[in-house]
Amino acid sequence: MNAQYLMDTARALVAGDKGLLAMDESHPTCNKRFAKLGIPQTVDARRAYREMIVTTPGLGECISGAILFDETIRQQKKDGTPFLKVLTDAGIIPGIKVDTGAKDMAAHPGEKITEGLDGLRDRLKEYFQMGARFAKWRAVIAIGDDIPSRSCIEANAHALARYAALCQEAGMVPVVEPEVLMDGDHTLERCRAVTEEVLRTVFNQLNSQRVLLEGMILKPNMVLPGLTCPPHQEVEEAAIGEQQFQVRLTDRQPDEEEDVDEVANITVKSLWRTVPAAVPGIAFLSGGQSAELASARLNAMNLRFKSQLPWALAFSFARAIQQPALEIWQGKESNVKAAQQALLHRARCNRAARRGEYTAAMERTSG
Ligand code: 13P
Repeated sequence: MNAQYLMDTARALVAGDKGLLAMDESHPTCNKRFAKLGIPQTVDARRAYREMIVTTPGLGECISGAILFDETIRQQKKDGTPFLKVLTDAGIIPGIKVDTGAKDMAAHPGEKITEGLDGLRDRLKEYFQMGARFAKWRAVIAIGDDIPSRSCIEANAHALARYAALCQEAGMVPVVEPEVLMDGDHTLERCRAVTEEVLRTVFNQLNSQRVLLEGMILKPNMVLPGLTCPPHQEVEEAAIGEQQFQVRLTDRQPDEEEDVDEVANITVKSLWRTVPAAVPGIAFLSGGQSAELASARLNAMNLRFKSQLPWALAFSFARAIQQPALEIWQGKESNVKAAQQALLHRARCNRAARRGEYTAAMERTSG
């Protein structure tokens, strides 16, 4: 393993206030998003969509790396130029999703285990030869009445660590993604407790599998209340052990500024407790938050804490960068320019958020 090479790549992925663009949706996920907008679910529609993304003028100003899917890494522009060349010409490092999906975990109703370790060494070798310099593996942790179980957290953390070690052996930086899902009525405090337990377990496993922490990127969820969490519950429980946080005393919905600050505080505190300083960068997933909220929350973290943190706080968003562009594109060639503008706008908003310079006013301008 060339440790220096891995460290250089990992640092490059979070340099210049840029971040990652996740465009690695599997066929079912991509097709589902197309179907909602009436876009045909075909190989060619997926190719045309990805061409729109990778040819966005100026994307490399804000995006350091793009995560591709196996289908996409082998595709070309209409004129025959490989997407890999388009990306590297734009100064964007190509990456690749290498897990084969989160599957139902045997004997664990409601829980998932991510598969993809079989044959991974050979697949990584091929992707490296093609030009990929980093990889992604997503583990999924759901919160419910009796879940997550300890065994689900451990099995997923173990798989993440074995994947990460194989990536580094192949000269590729592992993006380690343990995602605690937003689905459910759990409180902010419960998400915090689960996220911290998951991250502690993941780093224990990374250490025991001898992963070079300086040569990896962590891709966690932000700490958020469940999508259907009643507001009063969130308030009561968020106060436990968090006295320095502003606590809301009514059952009204928080206004946006309170929400943003609360999420920024609790997320950074959880990471501070669990992520070793050797890790060069933390690049959040967006997880179904609106594009604007994802930018605002990342901005608040950097604005309040950047100078005190050992790692860069960056982004590795899929939906929070792509969704507005996808809605404009609609599968039509005539919408490509406008969709690209929307994509670049989100990328710029997120680069501004890394600098603590994002404002709501940016949403009213071209950003
Ligand atoms: P979202 O930003 O849409 O959550 O996707 C990030 C990702 O790469 C999921 O694996």
